[in-house]
Amino acid sequence: MRQEAIGEAHSKLILVGEHIVVYNKPAIAIPCPLTLRARIKERNGEITISSQFYTGSIYDMPDRAKGILECVKRSFELCNKPMEGVQIEIQSDIPVGRGLGSSAASATAIVRGIYKYFNKDITTEELFSLVELAESYAHGRPSGIDMMAVVREEPIMYQRTEGASSLIAPKPFHVVVADTGTIGDTKKAVSHVKKMRSQRPWEIDHTMAQIEEIVIKAKESILTGDSELLGSLLTRNHEKLRELGVSVSSLDRLVEVAIRLGALGAKLTGGGMGGCIIALAKDIESAKTISTGLMENGATKVWYFSTNSKNWFTVHSGICVD
Ligand code: MEV
Repeated sequence: MRQEAIGEAHSKLILVGEHIVVYNKPAIAIPCPLTLRARIKERNGEITISSQFYTGSIYDMPDRAKGILECVKRSFELCNKPMEGVQIEIQSDIPVGRGLGSSAASATAIVRGIYKYFNKDITTEELFSLVELAESYAHGRPSGIDMMAVVREEPIMYQRTEGASSLIAPKPFHVVVADTGTIGDTKKAVSHVKKMRSQRPWEIDHTMAQIEEIVIKAKESILTGDSELLGSLLTRNHEKLRELGVSVSSLDRLVEVAIRLGALGAKLTGGGMGGCIIALAKDIESAKTISTGLMENGATKVWYFSTNSKNWFTVHSGICVD
């Protein structure tokens, strides 16, 4: 056992296919360089947790965070340790409720930290099932893509019954992420789509089939490094998400602005109904121009980064804030 250990996790972006992935269709997610760290430190007595939102005993956390309690309990059990004697400090760059996977990243970083603290190795499968415990409280019945994208280090094609496969791009992509400043509600958006599907099954299934085609083409465009095609597929996907009723005017506006400023394409990312957009730029200079323009047109925060074709991690990045 160490006196202190740090677990880290990155955020994620759904590139294409959110919502249809809930219905066992494929989607593509990529890692996003915003990170969250969980510091596990020795302390006497019961476990405490401190974060931007809550500080106190792990047993008194608000109901929406109860999944974390279950996940920590199970991690201690699997490490054969009594559930006591540490404090957990969360420090995060990932905005909450913006579709960037902050809840999956919290659970991932905490589990990684606990295992490191007890000098125990963890497999991706074990990590996934512990994060799943926490996430099933946060999102009801998620598809699993957020967790999978956060625990993996590369872009993935994901389908609920098939799991994830890596997608290796032959060249970098240049990505812009802009925050509308409003919290999205994945649970609400998922139930909205479900309701629409029960009311107008033919129409919604048709839209979902069109999104599935977009995902298949997006996979090819990643594998061939065709950023223009990928960009146009993002914009088409956004139109389809609008048809599903999960976009809002602040998201539509940022998508329009990004395209007007030269983005190859743009769309909402994650559950929608608030949260962030993702845009693809032709190069890093264009990504910077689009980022500045998005800030001037209502975004509250913008991040841009270029991917590294080997492991998809950032080679250049920047941030614009109010
Ligand atoms: C949320 O990031 C993605 C959704 O498809 C929900 C899910 O897959 O669990 C909207």
